[in-house]
Amino acid sequence: MCGIFAYLGPRKNAAEFVIHGLTKLEYRGYDSWGVAYDEGIKLGIYRQIGKISDYDPVKTKFPESTMALGHSRWATHGGVTVANAHPHTNSDSTIAIVHNGIIENFDELKKELVDKGYVFKSQTDSEVIAHLINEYCKTMDFEKAAKEAMKRFEGRYAVLAMKAGERKIIAARRGSPLIVGIGNNEYFVASDIPAFLEYTRKVMYLDDNQLVVLNNGTHFFDITTGKPVEKRVVEINWKTESAEKGNFAHFMIKEIMEQKDTIYRAINQEDSEIEKIAEEIKKAYGTFLIGCGTAGKVCLAAEYIFAKVAKRHVNVVVGSEFPSHQDFLKEKSLVIAVSQSGETADTLEAIEVAKKKKSKVLSIVNVEGSTMDRESDYSLHIKAGPEKAVASTKATTSQIAILTLLAYACDGRLQEGKTLLIDTAGKINDMLNPRYEEHIHALAEKIQHHESMYVIGKAVNYAIALEAAIKLQEVSYIHAEGFAGGELKHGPIALISEGTPCIVLVSNGDTRTDILNNAREVKARGGFIIGVAPQNEEVFDYWIKVPDVGIASPIVNIIPIQLLAYHLAVLRQNNPDMPRNLAKSVTVK
Ligand code: M6R
Repeated sequence: MCGIFAYLGPRKNAAEFVIHGLTKLEYRGYDSWGVAYDEGIKLGIYRQIGKISDYDPVKTKFPESTMALGHSRWATHGGVTVANAHPHTNSDSTIAIVHNGIIENFDELKKELVDKGYVFKSQTDSEVIAHLINEYCKTMDFEKAAKEAMKRFEGRYAVLAMKAGERKIIAARRGSPLIVGIGNNEYFVASDIPAFLEYTRKVMYLDDNQLVVLNNGTHFFDITTGKPVEKRVVEINWKTESAEKGNFAHFMIKEIMEQKDTIYRAINQEDSEIEKIAEEIKKAYGTFLIGCGTAGKVCLAAEYIFAKVAKRHVNVVVGSEFPSHQDFLKEKSLVIAVSQSGETADTLEAIEVAKKKKSKVLSIVNVEGSTMDRESDYSLHIKAGPEKAVASTKATTSQIAILTLLAYACDGRLQEGKTLLIDTAGKINDMLNPRYEEHIHALAEKIQHHESMYVIGKAVNYAIALEAAIKLQEVSYIHAEGFAGGELKHGPIALISEGTPCIVLVSNGDTRTDILNNAREVKARGGFIIGVAPQNEEVFDYWIKVPDVGIASPIVNIIPIQLLAYHLAVLRQNNPDMPRNLAKSVTVK
């Protein structure tokens, strides 16, 4: 979490420039922000609580400067206060740093520095970075001091550092993402590409345990050995507008609507590539699907899809729990990591565990060039384009589509799978029309004041019920829970009272009768039944139609819930793009 960005070049408005770039990273954290800019003998520092998008360039002007760095925060150590906001500095504000991640040995380093007389101004783990660089600067130059300091930090971090009057940005990476952008005689370095996408498409990725010195060029080093490292420039082909809202009120609704196209893009893969990976799955001695949050629910859906389509069992483990399963891993095991960002710390840790056991790793990611993409043996890109809203929507359905395709390929029926998914994509296009959205908006108006709601499903729709609950929770802040329909009678049905909204996910086939019976059980206790189904059923109080697409039903069933969550958020005056307490990319454990 946290977005970091630095600029060095001929532009004279470096502080404003960095602030503008940070607005593109705000999805990574948005409880406070700050910027440091070079004023020659000292650094100017400006920090604020709240969203960086609230910054008013007319009210707050910055002096001329050609080098700056900044940060948009998602708090880990220390509350949301100006003192805890980044950048952090040494005591005379000549060195400034911004940090994404966690310095796990900060306690020990802080003690060492306090013993030397350093005074800490914040409760963060990050402040030790500025003071430790300062300490090393007593006996060496800034670049060497920063390099020495970086060697000592444990944990996952991305750090940017600068010193007053030294024309240099130092950027170091251990675990958290950092990408260098190469402009015309100017350099950018950020946690994610959208920060500088308007200015260049030429990028250089820092790998783990690498540091770059940006001055009149880019100089990469290995943090541990200090030796120079060769890097190449990669040309990315993202479109600027794909990272912008366009005419939509929010990224979330834009990204929901993009699902008209994204399924096509996800399944537009080389047959040979899909078949090669299907072979790996078939010969694996245990396949583990790993993901966090929504990606974890996608994995659960895939477990059902693989069972049904390929008659194959795959194990599903949430990323943070995976280390406890490592004893089951063999060299011949295959770990499939599912992630939109490719940077989720818990999933990355699961990959590390798998690699230590010499198991093969396949990543299914959206962000090309992300850590997972680069650290896996195989990688499949879902090609959904930048997903900016914190709530995952288009990435979710694209991940399900690609996993469905793999299941078909495992059963030697790749073309059949493609045909089904192409048909599904066409039906999503028909579904996402203004009347459909109005129908869901009307439902949101009806249920917006409820305190709790429930979602039930059976088989693959059980996984989607869990995902639906996440969507509703994270943007509407209504208490929502997902259950397997059959589980209700074992306890949760006690929660149903008169008018409680209960969404029932139905698809035609062998699960229909059971889930409709579960819906009747809820209705008999006063529940208000919202049916998401191909046809209207007598038990429904409100029907949301979805196309009948067989085993691809999870893809179409989640879309109306995404829309419902969005409209509930807007009606309840929440910002659906930046829900409270959350961040898009969870790069801390
Ligand atoms: O980038 P990832 O797919 O690895 O992210 C995993 C979760 O943090 C993410 O899916 C989260 O649950 C979303 N906010 C849900 O909408």
